[in-house]
Amino acid sequence: MPNPIPRPSTPYRRATGLFFTLLTAGSVAIAGENPRSRAEAEALLERMTLEEKIGQLALFTSFGATTGPPQDQAALEENIRAGNCGSVLNALSVAQIRKLQKIAVEESRLRVPLLFGYDVVHGYKTIFPIPLGETASWDLEAIERSARVAAVEAAAAGLDWTFAPMVDIARDPRWGRIAEGAGEDPFMGSAVAAARVRGFQGRDLTAPDSVLACVKHFAAYGAAVAGRDYNTVDMSERMLREVYLPPYAAGVEAGALSVMTSFNELNGTPATANSFLLRKVLRTEWGFKGIVVTDYTAINEMVAHGSAADEADAARQALAAGVDIDMVGGTFVHHLKQLVREGKVSRRQIQAGARRVLALKAQLGLLQDPFRHCDEAREARLLGARENLEAAYRMACESFVLLKNESQALPLKTGKTVAVIGPLADSSRDLLGCWKADGAWDSIDTVLGGIRRNNGDGQVVFAPGCDIASTNRAGFAEAIAAARTSDVIVAVVGESWDMSGEASCRTSINLPGAQTELLRELKQTGRPLVVVLMNGRPLALEEESAMADAMLEAWFPGTEGAKAVADVLFGKQNPAGKLPVTFPRRLGQAPIYYAAKNTGRPLDPANPKEPYKSSYLDCPNDPLYPFGFGLSYTTFNCAEPQLDQSRLLPGGCLTASATVSNTGQRDGAVVVQLYLRDLVGSVTRPVLELKGFQRLVLKAGEQRRISFNIRQQDLAFLRKDMTWGTEPGSYLAFIGLDSRELRSARFELARK
Ligand code: NOJ
Repeated sequence: MPNPIPRPSTPYRRATGLFFTLLTAGSVAIAGENPRSRAEAEALLERMTLEEKIGQLALFTSFGATTGPPQDQAALEENIRAGNCGSVLNALSVAQIRKLQKIAVEESRLRVPLLFGYDVVHGYKTIFPIPLGETASWDLEAIERSARVAAVEAAAAGLDWTFAPMVDIARDPRWGRIAEGAGEDPFMGSAVAAARVRGFQGRDLTAPDSVLACVKHFAAYGAAVAGRDYNTVDMSERMLREVYLPPYAAGVEAGALSVMTSFNELNGTPATANSFLLRKVLRTEWGFKGIVVTDYTAINEMVAHGSAADEADAARQALAAGVDIDMVGGTFVHHLKQLVREGKVSRRQIQAGARRVLALKAQLGLLQDPFRHCDEAREARLLGARENLEAAYRMACESFVLLKNESQALPLKTGKTVAVIGPLADSSRDLLGCWKADGAWDSIDTVLGGIRRNNGDGQVVFAPGCDIASTNRAGFAEAIAAARTSDVIVAVVGESWDMSGEASCRTSINLPGAQTELLRELKQTGRPLVVVLMNGRPLALEEESAMADAMLEAWFPGTEGAKAVADVLFGKQNPAGKLPVTFPRRLGQAPIYYAAKNTGRPLDPANPKEPYKSSYLDCPNDPLYPFGFGLSYTTFNCAEPQLDQSRLLPGGCLTASATVSNTGQRDGAVVVQLYLRDLVGSVTRPVLELKGFQRLVLKAGEQRRISFNIRQQDLAFLRKDMTWGTEPGSYLAFIGLDSRELRSARFELARK
C-alpha cells in the first residue's frame, strides 16, 4: 500500500487540541507576523486617501470563470489604476497576473500591490479527488500533501491566495456543495480543515510556494434548508457551536489568515452582516487576526435577503459587522465614501479594514516583492510536474471506498474479457469534478483507457449504454450484447461533474437518467456485475447495491483518477477508503448522520416493527452504508476494546486499546475508529461521537495492538448553561472499523 503508517494517535491529538482551544478560546498565533511588515503597512496607510483605503477593501474579478455576474476587463484595469481595487479574483497564469500587477505597481498613485486569489480547491493544474473523496482516505498526511501540491502549483502560476479550504459540515445529500467539504462530522471536519490550511500555507507564508488559505463559508452554509443552495439557515446556537463551528475554528487555529463569509442568512441575519459570527465568535472568542472577505456579491445580496434597504445600507451593515473585503460587489467603492460623509460609517472602521489588508500584504511579502510569484520558468517547471501527478494518483487510490465485494468479484483477473459499460466509462471531464481550477481534461486518460492498459485492448469491449441524465435507451442493446460476450461487466455510472458543487442541488439522489435501468438489464445477462461510481454526494443505491457483485465508490478522482480506478479494479492497489458521510437507503431518511441523538423512543433494532417508536413505516432507520464504512480486498478484525482504568480523573488520561488483525490473504490498510458516548448529560448527547482514528497498514496475517488516549477535554461539550466543559458520569468508549460495527467499554469521569 502506498500510505505510510501514521504516527499513533496523531489525528486524535491534533483534533483534541482543537477542542481544548474551543474551551479556552485563547488567542491565535499569526504565522509570519513581524513588526517590520506591520510598520511598512502603517507607513503606507498614513499616506492613503480615504478612497485609496476603501480601494484596499475591494476585490474584483478578472479573465477567468466566474460564479456570478461577470465584469468588464477594461473597467477592472481602470479600477486598479485609480487605486479602487486591492485584490483580484480569477486571474490565471503568471502572464495575466503580471500584467495586472504591473498596472498596480507602475500606474497607481501609491503603487500598492494587488493580492491575487482563486478557487484552488482540490488542485490547480494537477487535480486531486474532490475534497469529499480525499476525506474518505482518512489520511491527514495525504490530505495535507494534496493541499501542498495545490499550493505549489497555484503559487507557481502567480497566485497568492486560495479560496479554500471549504469546511462546511454537510448532512444533506441534496446540497451539491457537500462535494467540496469533508462530510458530516465535526471531528473529522476539524482535522481535515487544519490539514488543508497547513498544506496551503506551508511553514512560511512568504515562501515562494505558499498561498494564503481562506476558511469558508462562515458559517453554517451547509445547513441550507432542504439542501437548496444559498437557502436560509435556522439553527440553535448549541448545534452551531457543537457541530458546525469546530472546523472553522480548526482552520483558524491552524493559522488561516482569511475567512470568507457565507451567502446564507443565519437565524435571520445574513452571515455577511452577522456581527455575532464575525465579531463575537471569530474575532473575540477565537482571536482571529486575519481578513474577512465576503462571498461573491454577498453584500449586494442582502437587499434580496430583505435585511438591507439598498446596497449602501448593505455596505454599511457588512462593514459594521466586521467584513474587510467586498468580493466583486463593488458596494464599498461605490458607497463607503458617501456613508462617511453622512456620518453613517466612521473613518476608523475603514482604516481598520485597510490596515488588516495591508498588514497581510506585508506579511505575505508582497510589499517587498509584488512579483514574488511571477516566474514563468517556475510555472513551466512545476505545473503538472511528475511528482504532483504521482501524489494525485496515490491520493485517488486512497480515496476509493469499496462498498461491496461478493464472491471476490474484485479484483479482476487479467486475461478475461471485460465489458466496460456506462456513460462515465470514457469521460475525462467528469473525472475532475467541480472546481477544476486550471486542470485540463483533453489529454487525460479515462477509466476505459486504464482498463485497456491493464487488460489489453483485445480483451475489452466498450459500449456506453446510455448517457448520464436522459432516459434514452437507444444504446442499451449494444451494451447488453457487449456484456453477453464478456466474462465480467464493469459499469461506470453516477453523476456528471456539474451535478454537484455550487448551485448544483438535486431533489433526487438516485442515479440520474436511465442508468439504473441499464444496470438491471446488465444484471439479467448473468455476468458478474462490478459497479464503479462517480459522484459528488451520497447517492441512494439500495437497488444498485443489491444488483452489484462489487461496488466501488470512486467520487470524482482527478487527473490521475482513471489510472487509479483501473489499478484498484485489477488489484494493483488495495482499497481502504471509509465513508466520511452516511449513505442513506433513500433520500427520505435525510438528513441522516451517525452522531444522532437517541430520542425518547429509540427503535430497538431487534424489534424494528414495534409501533410508536422513532421510525418510518416504509424504510428502516439505518443507512445503506454507515459513516466510516469501507471494505478491502483483505479482511480485518477488531477485538473488544480494553481500558487501562475504568475511572478517568480530571486532568488525567485513560487509554483504550484493541487488537486489530488482518485476517485475509493480502496486505492492506485499515482505519480504526474511536467513538465516545456520554450516557447522561445535563443536555442530551449524541449516541456516538468520533474522537479519534488511526490508519494502519497490516501485512496479511499481521496483528497490532492500537491505543487511543482519552482525556477530559475529549468529553467536553456545551453544557446546559452554554459553557464548554465536562460533566462527571458514565461514558462508553467504542472502537471498531466503522460507525456500525463497534464494541464498547464503559468508564466513569470522576468528579475529582
Ligand atoms: C462563490 C463561491 O461560493 C465561493 O466558494 C467561491 O470562493 C467564490 N464564488 C469565488 O469564486
